[in-house]
Amino acid sequence: METVCVLGAGSTRYGRLDESLVEMIANASADAIDDAGIVPGDIGAAYISNVFGIADKQVHLGPVIMSRLGIPEKPSLSIESACGSGSVSFREAYANVAAGFYDAVLVTGAEKVTHTTTAWTTTYFAYCSDFFYEGSAGASFPGLFASMARAYMTEYGATEEDFARVAVKNHENGLLNPKAHLRKKITVDDVLGSAVVASPLKLYDCCPFSDGASSAIVCNEKFAKEHGGKYVKVIGSGRGGSPSALQDRNHITTIDSTVSASKAAYKAAGITPKDVDFAEVHDCFTIAEVVNSEDLGFAKKGEGIGAAREGRTARNGDIPLNPSGGLKSKGHPIGATGVGQVVETYEQLTGAAGERGIKGAEIGLTHNFGATGASCAVHIFQSV
Ligand SMILES: CC(C)(COP(=O)(O)OP(=O)(O)OC[C@H]1O[C@@H](n2cnc3c(N)ncnc32)[C@H](O)[C@@H]1OP(=O)(O)O)[C@@H](O)C(=O)NCCC(=O)NCCS
Repeated sequence: METVCVLGAGSTRYGRLDESLVEMIANASADAIDDAGIVPGDIGAAYISNVFGIADKQVHLGPVIMSRLGIPEKPSLSIESACGSGSVSFREAYANVAAGFYDAVLVTGAEKVTHTTTAWTTTYFAYCSDFFYEGSAGASFPGLFASMARAYMTEYGATEEDFARVAVKNHENGLLNPKAHLRKKITVDDVLGSAVVASPLKLYDCCPFSDGASSAIVCNEKFAKEHGGKYVKVIGSGRGGSPSALQDRNHITTIDSTVSASKAAYKAAGITPKDVDFAEVHDCFTIAEVVNSEDLGFAKKGEGIGAAREGRTARNGDIPLNPSGGLKSKGHPIGATGVGQVVETYEQLTGAAGERGIKGAEIGLTHNFGATGASCAVHIFQSV
């Protein structure tokens, strides 16, 4: 297998954007191509992740973007895997470069939903659940993650205040990220006093609906060296799955797809969770970050909440989680999120993260899942 690298990255701001879906993808892609110091013709193929292109009247995005980039003859693939689309797309890019099919490819994720109503978006997002058993019975994502939070509180004695600390920490990180959607300092009291969305989760326990696009150039090491820009190595890649409906799982405070994807990624990288310097994890709701910290091996089962309470997951803690602000503050344009995590990790490991940089970081991990964790991909990166 080829050694796979990320050579350049680019992203739009996340939030409520005026640009069309296609414009956002073209802008982020052009930024990543420029950042890599290459031209569109150097790209062998593209992987474009998106879930609700239909909301902006454009699906079959791959060929449209290749045409905008002036390389319509190059192959492309549009990928949908709910909120995990970006990481699954990155995995396809990784696998194709590792296998030697292409020297360099483009991976871009994007979403545009804020021009629709909350009711529309909530309903469409629910189509990503196991709709027959969950969405159609009224269980939208806030409700499903609220069930996880309630179970976790019962099993491990966590409190609503504990979850609130996760949101406060991620908003603090997001304040340092010029591209974050919700750049606002909040307190535990703000979280506890915000509107109840699905008890015990309140407004500030939830990620927002966001627009945005993120992009990365994935290539083999020979290509990276020849083009001379800063690059990082992808040293581990893992995928996993879980039953789609929560009711079909053996437990709802562990997400098996995260466990299996991360085990595969750690094995490929030849490292353990202790070797990871920071991680971008899928904190669509505060409970998700806590469960992820355990499933990724950063804390024992039931102890993730203690790690959050003690500040161990803060930027200056022993395992910083979501230095970008995470889905909670940076935002969650669902097709883009997994690629956005790669952009953050690339910036962290190449010294381009500015004030939010994790000092001395050499190994970063990205974790992104679809729906309540039915599909998942984990990647591990190392500075060069
Ligand atoms: C929580 C939620 C229902 C709020 O949506 P909403 O009621 O339509 O909120 P609005 O867009 O009308 O915004 C109202 C205000 O709250 C703020 N806001 C919206 N969502 C927010 C969030 N998640 N956290 C903090 N503030 C938020 C807005 O900025 C706005 O502030 P302003 O009045 O100062 O401008 C929605 O964000 C949500 O469902 N989030 C989860 C998305 C999801 O499930 N993603 C998939 C995960 S698997």
